[in-house]
Amino acid sequence: MPAESIAAAQSLSSDFKARIEARTAKVGIIGLGYVGLPLALLYNNEKFPVTGFDIDARKVDALSKGESYIYRIAKEEIQDARSRGFSATADYAHLNEMDAVIICVPTPLNEYHEPDMSYIVNTTEAIAPHLRAGQLVILESTTYPGTTEEVVIPILEKKNRAGLKVARNGATDGARFFVAFSPEREDPGNTEVARHDIPKVVGGVDERAAEMAAALYGSIFRRVVRVSSPAAAEMTKLLENIYRCVNIALVNELKLLCLRMGIDIWEVIAAASTKPFGFHPFYPGPGLGGHCIPVDPFYLSWKAKEFDFHTRFIELAGEINIGMPYHVIRSVIDALNKRQKALNGSKILVLGVAYKKDIDDLRESPSLTIIELLQKEGAQVSYNDPYFPFIGKGRKYDLQMKCASLDNLGQYDCVLIVTDHSDYDYQRIVCEAQLIVDTRNATRGIQSPKIVLC
Ligand SMILES: NC(=O)c1ccc[n+]([C@@H]2O[C@H](COP(=O)([O-])OP(=O)(O)OC[C@H]3O[C@@H](n4cnc5c(N)ncnc54)[C@H](O)[C@@H]3O)[C@@H](O)[C@H]2O)c1
Repeated sequence: MPAESIAAAQSLSSDFKARIEARTAKVGIIGLGYVGLPLALLYNNEKFPVTGFDIDARKVDALSKGESYIYRIAKEEIQDARSRGFSATADYAHLNEMDAVIICVPTPLNEYHEPDMSYIVNTTEAIAPHLRAGQLVILESTTYPGTTEEVVIPILEKKNRAGLKVARNGATDGARFFVAFSPEREDPGNTEVARHDIPKVVGGVDERAAEMAAALYGSIFRRVVRVSSPAAAEMTKLLENIYRCVNIALVNELKLLCLRMGIDIWEVIAAASTKPFGFHPFYPGPGLGGHCIPVDPFYLSWKAKEFDFHTRFIELAGEINIGMPYHVIRSVIDALNKRQKALNGSKILVLGVAYKKDIDDLRESPSLTIIELLQKEGAQVSYNDPYFPFIGKGRKYDLQMKCASLDNLGQYDCVLIVTDHSDYDYQRIVCEAQLIVDTRNATRGIQSPKIVLC
C-alpha cells in the first residue's frame, strides 16, 4: 500500500490521542441510562466536551432542564455538568462532530429468553450515516462474544455514506474508522469503590483502535486492561457475571438444604469468610434481579448453541435462581399456616422492591414476581420502598400499586422482607409486625419468635 496511506491512518490515531491529552476530543455517549449518564458526567468532570444522545425525549428534556432521573445523581450534578458544556440531544446528526462515540444501550432478553439485539442494531444503524474517517466507536453494552465483529462492524461498514472501512492491523487502504469493545463494570449502590478505581477492560479491533480506546478511558479510569480483541473483552464481562450468577445459585441451593437441616446458612457463610484464601462470599436471596446477572449469562448460552455447545452451569444456575421466588411464597404459606392462617385473604406487606438494597432500580427484581405470585394466591398485597412511591407498568408487569406507609405494621398478617434497604428500622419493624419473613437476613442480631428466615 502507498506509504502516504499508512502515514494518514497513523496520524488519525495520533491526532486523536493529542486531542485526548488536550481535553478537546469530543465524546458522544449514546444511551443515557444507568451506565451512559454517569459515564457522560465522568468525562464532563474531566473537562471533555460531552454530548449525550438518547431516543427517550423525556430524558433529553429532563437533562436539558438540569434535572436528574436517576436517584443517586443529584440535579446539581447535571446543572454543574451543563455549565461545563454537557448537553443532551435526540438528534444523531451531531454524531458527525464527535471524535469518540460510546454506545451504552440496553441488551435485554426477548420473550423466548434469547438476546434482544434490537437496541444495538438500531443504534448502530443510526450512527452509520454520520460516521466519518478517524472516529472511534466503542460498544459498552454487555453482549455475547462476536457482537462487535458480527453485528456492529458490518452495519457501520455497509451503511456509512463515505464507503469507510474499519481500521484493521495491516489494512491501510482508504479511509478508516476505529472500533473497540469495553465492558461496563459499574456496581450500583457500591459506595466503597470509586468509579475511576474500577479497572477498564478494552479490546480493540486493531492496535490503533486499542490504543485510542485505552487513551480515552485512561483519562478517566486509573487503570486500563487491554485484551487482544473485542471478543475477548465481550467474554470477560460475561465471565464476571456468570461467575456471580453461578455462585449465587450455589449459595441459594445450599440455603435450601441448610433450612431443611436446621443450620443457619448466614452463620456458615460468615465463618467460611474468615478463610484468608480461596473463598469469596456470595449471599442467598429471594432471586436474582437487575439488568445484568439474570440476563447476561443467557447471551452466552444462546451463542454457545451455534458451536454445538451446551452451557450446563449457566442453565442449572438459572434454574435454581429462577425458583427462589417460589421458595419465598412457600415459606410465607408455611409461616402463616403455623399461625392457623391461609395465604388466601391474608394481608402481606412486601418490604423493599428494588432488586438490591439502597438503589432505585426495579429491573428484573424478584419482588415483582413475588408480588404477582402472592396476588395469584389470593393475598392482599401492599408494598413499601423509599425509592418507589409508585409501581406502574414495566416490560413484564403491570402492578399499578402505591407505596404503603410503615405507620401501622400490625395490620399485616405478614411483613415480607425482600430488599434490605439500610433506611429501615428493623428493630421497630420486628417489634410492631405480627410475623416477619426475612429473605435477606436483614433482622440479624434481633431475637424474636416472630422472625422466620427463608
Ligand atoms: N445498569 C448497570 O448496572 C449495568 C452494569 C454493567 C453493564 N450494564 C450494561 O450496560 C448497558 C446499558 O444498561 P443501562 O442499565 O444503562 O440501561 P438503561 O435502560 O438504564 O439505559 C439505556 C438507555 O439507552 C437509550 N436508548 C435505547 N435505544 C437507543 C437508541 N437507539 N439510541 C439512543 N439511545 C437509546 C434508552 O432510552 C435508555 O435511556 C446494557 O447492556 C447493560 O447490560 C449495565
